[in-house]
Amino acid sequence: MKQTKKILVTGGLGYIGSHTVVALQQAGYEVVIIDDLSNTQIAVLENITKITNVMPEFHPIDLKNTEAVDQFFNDNKIDGIIHFAAYKAVGESVKKPLMYYRNNLSGLINVLEAMEKYGVDHFIFSSSCTVYGQADQMPINEKTPLKRPEAPYGKTKHMGEEIIGDFVEAEQKNAIALRYFNPVGAHSSALIGELPNGIPNNLIPYITQTASGIRGSLGVFGNDYETRDGTAIRDYIDVNDLADAHVKALNRLLTKENKNALEYFNLGSGTGSTVLEMIEAFEKANNLKVPYEIKDRRAGDIQEAYADYSLAKKELNWEPNTPLETSMKTAWAFECKINETIG
Ligand code: WQD
Repeated sequence: MKQTKKILVTGGLGYIGSHTVVALQQAGYEVVIIDDLSNTQIAVLENITKITNVMPEFHPIDLKNTEAVDQFFNDNKIDGIIHFAAYKAVGESVKKPLMYYRNNLSGLINVLEAMEKYGVDHFIFSSSCTVYGQADQMPINEKTPLKRPEAPYGKTKHMGEEIIGDFVEAEQKNAIALRYFNPVGAHSSALIGELPNGIPNNLIPYITQTASGIRGSLGVFGNDYETRDGTAIRDYIDVNDLADAHVKALNRLLTKENKNALEYFNLGSGTGSTVLEMIEAFEKANNLKVPYEIKDRRAGDIQEAYADYSLAKKELNWEPNTPLETSMKTAWAFECKINETIG
């Protein structure tokens, strides 16, 4: 009888984390979640359960609490870890760098130390295209030279990769860093999606909150970039496709011969879209208007980024297959469901 593998998902009640938990359960894995609930709500656990009919085990642990992390691993035999838990607001990280370095890096190090002590061999790290900074050429592949990210948030992702790389070499572990481009969309059930606390930093939640009247109008941060319509270009990738990539990355780690190394994979749609094109895509998909005004550029923003995902396609047998229109519909459906629930 094949033993069901038990996978720890840190930050598993967050946006990408919750969608990955659903995909893992549907792929036959047993999932245990650690989340400190600092940027999400416990209702997400209930909604994951409504989707899969299996309630994941949940522990409200702050990964900065070394004793609590050690106790968890002492009590639970874990076969692999997917590590999402981190603060991720770019602007906030500029204002509070030490909060970001302490949370994102000491949390990571506590998990890695537990891997060493309790013999956990497989680790997937939630990284970001932000480690490339403004790349010199498009599309961006994994050999593209990294540039110093502007914000402490991006630096914690870059440093995180370096820490993990040194760790897996020294301890003969297997790890994959998944570099997401811009996650968008929500689960088809509209039960889980991107639920930012406070004023959204990211474009799509700001658009959906403007469309629902929570925000007056969208500010478009700059229209003087050297792009086809003057607004910045990003690669928007559906969150369900990202979740699928995590399952495929885990399958690779659990079945491939030991790599004893850190591998990197870009996860994007391979297509660049400008901010104005995204507004238009959202309006067309949902047949509504989004009021916006052009504002100054946002400090730290880059002009253009979109992915070459051919390495993930080759090595993980993964590719994006959710059209942008679908992501715009599911993002809107989730916003409407949330507003209905809040009332
Ligand atoms: C996208 C575009 C903005 C808001 C960051 C992180 C990345 C990932 C996603 C975590 C940019 C413009 C935005 C608004 C706007 N983080 N914009 N008005 O900055 O590309 O990436 O978030 O998973 O790691 O680096 O994403 O959604 O903030 O911005 O005009 O109100 O939309 O200028 O061009 P970003 P974003």
